[in-house]
Formats: sequence, structure tokens, C-alpha cells
Amino acid sequence: MQTYEIKKDIHWVGAVDWTIRDFHGYSTYQGTSYNAFLMLDEKNVLFDTVKKPLKSDLVHRIKSIIDPEKIDYIVVNHVEMDHSGALPDIVKLVKPEKVICSKMGHKNLLDHFHQPDWPYHVVNDGETISVGKRNITFIETRMLHWPDSMFSYVPEEKLLISSDAFGQHLGSSERFDDEVDQSFLMHEAAKYYANILTLYSPLVQKLLERVAKLGIEIDMIAPDHGIIWRKNPGLILDAYKRWSAHQGTEKAVVIYDTMWHSTEMMAKAVADGIESQGISLKLIDLQVSHRSDAMTDVLDAKGVVLGCPTLNNGLLPRMAGFLMYMRGLRPTNKFGAAFGSYGWSGESVKLMNKAMEEMKFEIIHPGLRVKYVPTHDTLKECVELGKLMGKTIKDSFK
Ligand code: FEO
Repeated sequence: MQTYEIKKDIHWVGAVDWTIRDFHGYSTYQGTSYNAFLMLDEKNVLFDTVKKPLKSDLVHRIKSIIDPEKIDYIVVNHVEMDHSGALPDIVKLVKPEKVICSKMGHKNLLDHFHQPDWPYHVVNDGETISVGKRNITFIETRMLHWPDSMFSYVPEEKLLISSDAFGQHLGSSERFDDEVDQSFLMHEAAKYYANILTLYSPLVQKLLERVAKLGIEIDMIAPDHGIIWRKNPGLILDAYKRWSAHQGTEKAVVIYDTMWHSTEMMAKAVADGIESQGISLKLIDLQVSHRSDAMTDVLDAKGVVLGCPTLNNGLLPRMAGFLMYMRGLRPTNKFGAAFGSYGWSGESVKLMNKAMEEMKFEIIHPGLRVKYVPTHDTLKECVELGKLMGKTIKDSFK
């Protein structure tokens, strides 16, 4: 099987998961990859493994380079099963001298695989080990995005093996950033950030500050998913600075669900009003758009307008599910507003406002409710709501 030498004597030996389309609720139209790296030195080191069903891809790739028993150390940067599922079989095959992990990694490995006799070597944050010509420094990245997560940095190569951070769910035959379309790559990186890391943005900011203070030189970032940043690692570092700051851009999203098209008519009128103010606008119908794509648009939007009719004194299930998903990811620093049609009770607007208040969105309007079907005049009110959102966004950037 094909392997890729990412630096001299450092090989990509992971696996591409071409067919996965759902990653616990995140739509992965492009599949993904589980990147594992084999570094040959006086001590041969395997960084991470792959998801269990793809174990043989990893084994064949390792075997095409060295006898697996010649691997001395296995570094577990992250215990989640997409990177450690194959670990028990790999430990049996390799019989490593050390399984290197963080303190929380040790606990989580025990809780996952119940193997107290593995040759664990727990490293502290900032600890460096020598493997021959090269060193590896371990940087704990707790809660980015699990308690066990850490980076491995190889100073002689200026190589940061960054676990989940800076990744993308992008399965492809290309391995490097200079081999793929940049806007496509950045879209997938943004989708990954929006749906996995938004919640941890304050920690991302602290980590970026810490990496800057450490003064480590980086000329390649090798994440555990997707494309490796070799041409321009600064691009993804800058994007993470921007996304984690939750500043937003002059953009609004109108996200809605509809029963008999009344709320859809309102959504289009709100969108018209926003557009009239020269604000970039995305109209997202939850019946045809996946929640994880909607979240990608929320990431850089300054305004979020939600529309949903009332069903059984509540929300339509798709909007209820989206709100639960978005609340979990906790985007912040946004303007919010809500609208929806109703027949008799009409609770939906109140519920959507409540959800946005919980996310500390600044609600700019009490909300618009229309009984059954909008009229020309009530649609004008929707346009006015959109204009207000557009103007509020515009003024906030002055
Ligand atoms: Fe790709 Fe958190 O595992």
C-alpha cells in the first residue's frame, strides 16, 4: 500500500476512510482519514494508530517500510477510538518498549482497553525525550478536545504532530495542502472547527498564545485527520486565531424549517431585508441542509436569524435538534432574532429566543409571529426585521 514520506524518514502510514458519511452527527461527505506517522531513528516511533476496522491498512503500510517489531515506541496523542481502535492489536504485533501518553491518556487508555500491563510511559507537559538524532517534545492540549489530548513536536524537523487540531474530515489521495484547492481545503477546515472545536475556543486561544510564547518553529503541521499543512501552516494557525475569537464577519444566516411554507415565505422576506443592507447572506432550510453545514455558516456569521412554526406547543423536531446541537457548541458574540408562523398557541419564537439568550446572543428584536399565512403587510414586517439585522451587523463593524 502507498505510504508517503512527509519528512526524511518520517512516513504517513495511516488509513483513508472513503465511505464514512456520518461522524457522530457531523456529515462527512468527503470521508476522512486517520493519519498515523512512523518516524525512523535509533528508536523507531509510531505516532497514533487508526480506527479498528482499518487496522490492516496501517499494518500493511508499516510492513512496507519496516518489520513492525522494530517499532520501539508508540505515542498515543489522543485516546478517542478513531485513533486508538487498532491500538490493542498493534501493541500485540509490535511489542513496544514504551506506550507513550499523557497522564490523562494513561487513565483513558486503561478505561478503554483494560490493559494494565502495557509498558506505559507517562510524559509530563513540556517533557522532551530523545529518540536518537531527534527529540520529541510533548505539549498537553487538555480538552482540545479530550482530557488526554496532546501534541508531539519534533524540533529538529520543525514538525508539529497535532492530533485532532488543525484537521479536516477530508478523505483524499492527496496528502498535502499544496496538492488541493485552497478554498475547498479551508472550507473543510472551517467545518471541522465549527463542529468540533467551537466549544473549546477559549482553550484554543490560550494554546495559540502558549505555542507563540514557547517560540517553537513550525514548518509542517501534521494533524490526525485530512491534509498535512506543509506549504503554509501559518494559514491554518491564522484561521484558528480568527475562528476562536468569535468575531464574525459582515454575514448573516437565516436558518429555518417550515410546515406549509408560511415560515419559508417569512424567511425569504427576512433574507431580502438583510441583503438590502449589503450584508452577505445565507438562507438555510433545515429540511435539505445538514445541521453541521448550518453550523459551518454560523461560525463566521455575525447575525443568526431563526425561523420555525409552532408544533404541539413547541418547535418542529429539526429546529429543536439544531438548537440542541448549536447550544452544545456554544457559538458566542452574535446578534440573534426569531420568527415563525403559528395557528393558535405560537410558542416557537419564544423558545428560539430563549435558546439564543442561553448562548448569550444579543437579541435585537422581540420576534415576529404570523398567524397561519403571511400577508403582504406582514411580509413587509419580515423585510424590516431583516433590514434591522443587516444594519445592526453593519454598525457593529464601524
Ligand atoms: Fe479524531 Fe477526537 O478523534
